[in-house]
Amino acid sequence: MPKIVVSRYIVLGVFTFMTLTAGNVRFTNLKCDSLDPKFSIVEKCNLKLIRRGVVGLNITVKLLQIPVTNVSISLSFFKKSNGYQPYFYNTSADFCNFLKNRQKYPILQIVANYMLRNTNINHTCPFDHDIIAENLVLDKNIFKLLPFAVGDYMMRLMVSAYNDLKCEIKYYLSIYN
Ligand SMILES: *[C@@H]1O[C@H](CO)[C@@H](O)[C@H](O)[C@H]1NC(C)=O
Ligand SMILES: *[C@@H]1O[C@H](CO)[C@@H](O)[C@H](O)[C@H]1NC(C)=O
Ligand SMILES: *[C@@H]1O[C@H](CO)[C@@H](O)[C@H](O)[C@H]1NC(C)=O
Ligand SMILES: *[C@@H]1O[C@H](CO)[C@@H](O)[C@H](O)[C@H]1NC(C)=O
Repeated sequence: MPKIVVSRYIVLGVFTFMTLTAGNVRFTNLKCDSLDPKFSIVEKCNLKLIRRGVVGLNITVKLLQIPVTNVSISLSFFKKSNGYQPYFYNTSADFCNFLKNRQKYPILQIVANYMLRNTNINHTCPFDHDIIAENLVLDKNIFKLLPFAVGDYMMRLMVSAYNDLKCEIKYYLSIYN
């Protein structure tokens, strides 16, 4: 009897270890909406399979009223189960402030460390150019720092300028073993 109990613990231990370290993540869908066509136009918003299990993202948003000096964002996560339900992490911030003082925004800093890669927006305000992300691949390390269970999620990014909602991007993603 004791032997069986011990081996169960070992199995449980291995299983826990695997769910924490063997995770894979990838984008599964992407939706970009400009909510103010006088302010911005979504020119590109697509995913492409780069190789097995690796999905790249391209987004181009044309800004029509440059320079943009005042940007705020709201980031929220939803888990798929009977539609998408709000999930634990959400945060909002003055994005221009964030770009100057990143350490003041812990959740955003983790996400930004990975999501600003391969973009042209990793600089302080203002923005006086089109917003481009090219071949951005979701990095599983985000989900080591912000622990998520295996499943399907949606990350919604709402972008405002001058306190007026301008753009909404929904990143659908899957975390799997
Ligand atoms: C993104 O755009 C670049 C340049 O046009 C292209 O080479 C690449 O295949 C595109 N990737 C995706 C994920 O659409
Ligand atoms: C984000 O969190 C705040 C505070 O917990 C809550 O009031 C708000 O409804 C949440 N928003 C979303 C979209 O989940
Ligand atoms: C963004 O810029 C900051 C400051 O220059 C730098 O520390 C950081 O590594 C950059 N992040 C990315 C994802 O390129
Ligand atoms: C951004 O614009 C809004 C609306 O005009 C204003 O309330 C807010 O203080 C501005 N933020 C900054 C950092 O200037």
